[in-house]
Amino acid sequence: MSDECPHKPSEEKTPSADNGAPPGSHPCCCGGGGGAKKKPMSPERRNFMLKFGMGLNVAAGAMIGIPIIGYLFSAFKKESPQVWISLGAVDQFEVGKIKMATYVNPGAKPWDGKSSDIPCWVRRKSKTEFQIFAINCTHLGCPVRWFEESKLFLCPCHGGAYYENGDHAAGPPPRGLYEYENRIVKNELQVKGGQIPTLSQPV
Ligand code: FES
Repeated sequence: MSDECPHKPSEEKTPSADNGAPPGSHPCCCGGGGGAKKKPMSPERRNFMLKFGMGLNVAAGAMIGIPIIGYLFSAFKKESPQVWISLGAVDQFEVGKIKMATYVNPGAKPWDGKSSDIPCWVRRKSKTEFQIFAINCTHLGCPVRWFEESKLFLCPCHGGAYYENGDHAAGPPPRGLYEYENRIVKNELQVKGGQIPTLSQPV
């Protein structure tokens, strides 16, 4: 079968071969259209379409690119700052004892309510020495409890246990309790808090 258009005028073809139609008047591949020729696009319209297409490309590029750039730059972002927070007067903690204390998360929003209260365990080792532990178990984060009788912190979830100095004693936790920095300023115990400790980011 020939690729040549049967309606193309040629010397070989007689008017009868084209069914009598004048050249270029048949609605087929030869560009004819029975007289219904397409109007060429005006330069203004072409310009508009071009700019519209470019705008769409820029918008799509921004939608894809901005999150990727944000992700790449997040590695250089400063970590949430730890700040010194008061836990109250030193005297409320008895030497040789462990007691729960609470501080308000410095990064809390007004609508956080009670969830911005962060509990921690305070151990007073001596008159001037303290240890402050995060309450979350280093296994899967359940809150641990101090048991004076057994002198152990116990986790209710999978039986993790820690000694009074925070070291791992038994069970699945991969390490000891997370310990916050502390200091005494003008007879006031302060904890350096603000970030919830995790295995990848212990305090
Ligand atoms: S969460 Fe504490 S032992 Fe699993």
